[in-house]
Amino acid sequence: MRTTTPLIALLASTSLVSATHLTDSLLNKVYNVMNEINTASWENGTKSIAILESKYPDLTVFTTKTDSPFDKLNGLQSGSIQEIIDIAQTTLNNRPATKTNTTNTNSTSHGGASLLEDGAAGDPASLGIAVLLANASTNDQQVNGVGYGDAATAELNYLLYDVPRTSSGAISHRADQAQLWADSVYMVPPFLAYYGAYHNNQTLIQEAYRQCSLYRDTLKQSNNLWAHILLGNGTHDPNLWVTGNAWAVSGMLRVWATIKWSGYASDMSSQMNDLQSWISEIFDAASGLITSDGVFHNYLNDNSTFKDTSGSALIAATGLRLSTLNITDKYVPDSLKILAGVSSYVNSTGYLTQVVNPYDFSKQGTYSPEGQSFVVMGYAAYKEWDSLGRKGSTSGKDDPLGKDSSAFKSTQLPTLLGVMGSIIVGIWTMV
Ligand SMILES: *[C@@H]1O[C@H](CO)[C@@H](O)[C@H](O)[C@H]1NC(C)=O
Ligand SMILES: *[C@@H]1O[C@H](CO)[C@@H](O)[C@H](O)[C@H]1NC(C)=O
Ligand SMILES: *[C@@H]1O[C@H](CO)[C@@H](O)[C@H](O)[C@H]1NC(C)=O
Ligand SMILES: *[C@@H]1O[C@H](CO)[C@@H](O)[C@H](O)[C@H]1NC(C)=O
Ligand SMILES: *[C@@H]1O[C@H](CO)[C@@H](O)[C@H](O)[C@H]1NC(C)=O
Ligand SMILES: *[C@@H]1O[C@H](CO)[C@@H](O)[C@H](O)[C@H]1NC(C)=O
Ligand SMILES: *[C@@H]1O[C@H](CO)[C@@H](O)[C@H](O)[C@H]1NC(C)=O
Ligand SMILES: *[C@@H]1O[C@H](CO)[C@@H](O)[C@H](O)[C@H]1NC(C)=O
Ligand SMILES: *[C@@H]1O[C@H](CO)[C@@H](O)[C@H](O)[C@H]1NC(C)=O
Repeated sequence: MRTTTPLIALLASTSLVSATHLTDSLLNKVYNVMNEINTASWENGTKSIAILESKYPDLTVFTTKTDSPFDKLNGLQSGSIQEIIDIAQTTLNNRPATKTNTTNTNSTSHGGASLLEDGAAGDPASLGIAVLLANASTNDQQVNGVGYGDAATAELNYLLYDVPRTSSGAISHRADQAQLWADSVYMVPPFLAYYGAYHNNQTLIQEAYRQCSLYRDTLKQSNNLWAHILLGNGTHDPNLWVTGNAWAVSGMLRVWATIKWSGYASDMSSQMNDLQSWISEIFDAASGLITSDGVFHNYLNDNSTFKDTSGSALIAATGLRLSTLNITDKYVPDSLKILAGVSSYVNSTGYLTQVVNPYDFSKQGTYSPEGQSFVVMGYAAYKEWDSLGRKGSTSGKDDPLGKDSSAFKSTQLPTLLGVMGSIIVGIWTMV
């Protein structure tokens, strides 16, 4: 090097986003770790969606094909979605033997029963779509004394009639009291909408939309980002949790896409427009809060909290889906930057690091089952976006993951080494 001046200039002008593009082999490791480490109800549910989005995209509401994912349920063979059947089967094997919640007088009449014993009323619902798919592909096979279809319907009725509600009608995320968690928007409304679209029941789809609306009414703060947990007593988290905002945007987009594939899309265009603008307001508010290495802090607006790659990954996945669904390409550059940033934190054994502890949301953890699923979702979205012609990327430089990315070529080196490497290459070329 002749002088240090160009180095300093480069350092000053270069974004610190490390453009680590996961190779297929490392992405496979991420997928395998996801399969190994998920244990909680919502983790298994989230994993089922990640598997669908990455391996069976045409069966998801995010499909970009012209065929309805619901039409494909007729004649679906169980062998064709074995991983999903396995998850549904495990769920039914773990399902409490008592089919109804007898402490709640309403449940006897409606036949409501949670898929799993869980203090969180909302979390087991994340498995509802997997159970419906298992039902469709096995012709309502019985497991542990109940058919998949009956278990799904009991879960629906549990949500509709047994779970406590707020005075406005929002279905609680907790079983023992009315308390709203942003998480629930990913777990519950997409299942209500999916059940409704599959069974041509517009009332259920409208209820899914209404639940998103009611959650937003309570959780949205003046800066348009959502608080994590409000109302009720015990656990509280009024902070702007990145994963909570990610659950919210992704859950609302799944409801949007479910309406699109239902028979009621033209009837419900104003609901779809609302969902679109509620998603956008979160993206717009979060956009300025991306760190220099391409991720978000655990509490979005609080730079003193640690960075969390897990929630960041689900935001990136959702931003790219907004593009593949033709809603808007506006969030593509941010999403690509975030996915690149997240990828730089995947270690060589396929674990996403620098994550929030999924069981203690204010603390940093060492690994995250849901985070593994979010990375799988992020790459499923990225690959689809890529195959559809990379809309919204104004130049190669906007896509740190892309083949033509200028400064940062694929590398598995840690962030700083990667940056130094590119700088050295840069200096070398200049000399
Ligand atoms: C989630 O899946 C894992 C792995 O299959 C299983 O061991 C666990 O019991 C499941 N959790 C629940 C709550 O069903
Ligand atoms: C998006 O728009 C393109 C061009 O009009 C169209 O070919 C494609 O089918 C649309 N995709 C979706 C998911 O609607
Ligand atoms: C059953 O219903 C009662 C009354 O609503 C509720 O307190 C309890 O948490 C429910 N149990 C389960 C397992 O959902
Ligand atoms: C029972 O169901 C009715 C009508 O669905 C509802 O208004 C009432 O709040 C429910 N009661 C309980 C304890 O869940
Ligand atoms: C379960 O599958 C059967 C047979 O395919 C179908 O008739 C029924 O509607 C399904 N149940 C649910 C809740 O989807
Ligand atoms: C739609 O689902 C709700 C809740 O299960 C049920 O009460 C209603 O009868 C259904 N409507 C139709 C048209 O099937
Ligand atoms: C929360 O409130 C409910 C009823 O309002 C009460 O039964 C419960 O003990 C309270 N829980 C805590 C942790 O204070
Ligand atoms: C927090 O980080 C963001 C993104 O790097 C930056 O725009 C913002 O100014 C920082 N805020 C504070 C208070 O440091
Ligand atoms: C990757 O991260 C996981 C979880 O923190 C850890 O157990 C594993 O040892 C790490 N692998 C390497 C090669 O550092």
